[in-house]
Amino acid sequence: MTDARGHRIAVDGLTKSFPQPGRGRPDRPVLGGVSFTAQPGEFVSVIGPSGCGKSTVFNMLAGLETPDSGSIRFGTSDGEPTAPHCAYMPQKDLLFPWRTVLDNTVLGLQVHGVPKPEARRRARELFPVFGLSGFEDARPSQLSGGMRQRAALLRTVVQERELLLLDEPFGALDSLTRTEMQSWLQDVWQRYRWMVLMITHDIREAVYLSDRVIVLSARPATVRRDVRVDLPRPRELSMITTPEFVALEQELLDVLHEEARHALAQRDT
Ligand SMILES: Nc1ncnc2c1ncn2[C@@H]1O[C@H](COP(=O)(O)OP(=O)(O)O)[C@@H](O)[C@H]1O
Ligand SMILES: [Mg+2]
Repeated sequence: MTDARGHRIAVDGLTKSFPQPGRGRPDRPVLGGVSFTAQPGEFVSVIGPSGCGKSTVFNMLAGLETPDSGSIRFGTSDGEPTAPHCAYMPQKDLLFPWRTVLDNTVLGLQVHGVPKPEARRRARELFPVFGLSGFEDARPSQLSGGMRQRAALLRTVVQERELLLLDEPFGALDSLTRTEMQSWLQDVWQRYRWMVLMITHDIREAVYLSDRVIVLSARPATVRRDVRVDLPRPRELSMITTPEFVALEQELLDVLHEEARHALAQRDT
């Protein structure tokens, strides 16, 4: 992760329309010019109404989808465009049930041509950090929900990319496990200082973990609000009830609700 510190990302004016099902219907504009930047080592959360295009933006960052217009610049400040070097944990991230946990966590490396023994060595080193020691040879079905999620994260992190893209990483967890995972993620992030972009629908989670929270509008999405979270680190659970925390939460909730109302109004249009 050493070269992570020099890289930044600049997303500028992304637009995208998708074809709609049904003959003769016009394409649906999903992104209406999304622009933001993220600095090396920064933790940025992205929130927005359901269906507004959050995952689409991440797919573009990961190079899986191309914008109709706009650009993504990734790299140092000399203006030289580089290919994005992202490790992506998509919204529905599955572990293969027939592979051991270790062999699941090396998949990303293997896809990029790292020989299996080397991939396994690198993944094994992270098992203690991810609270998975002793489960290398277990099957995913033998793990708790939180452990499966940590294994999926390990698979993402072990690729040592400059940017981690996490799409609702804790969405499927119960609230207690979720709280534990948030505090764990903060710990490992403080240790490694990856640049993280995380989609979440949980405003409290966004405030608790982030340096900045970006709110996307209803479709076609633009950046509606970009809020800095200046709470001290490490964040403690007790901070959730402080006036500063509550005020940020309220501000974000107000914007999000407004956009969610717009999104509801445009359903089936
Ligand atoms: N490949 C695609 N083809 C057609 N429509 C798509 C495609 N990907 C996303 N969409 C549509 O774009 C909109 C935004 O999707 P998405 O980015 O997944 O939203 P979010 O992650 O914010 O919930 C939705 O209406 C979705 O149906
Ligand atoms: Mg999504």
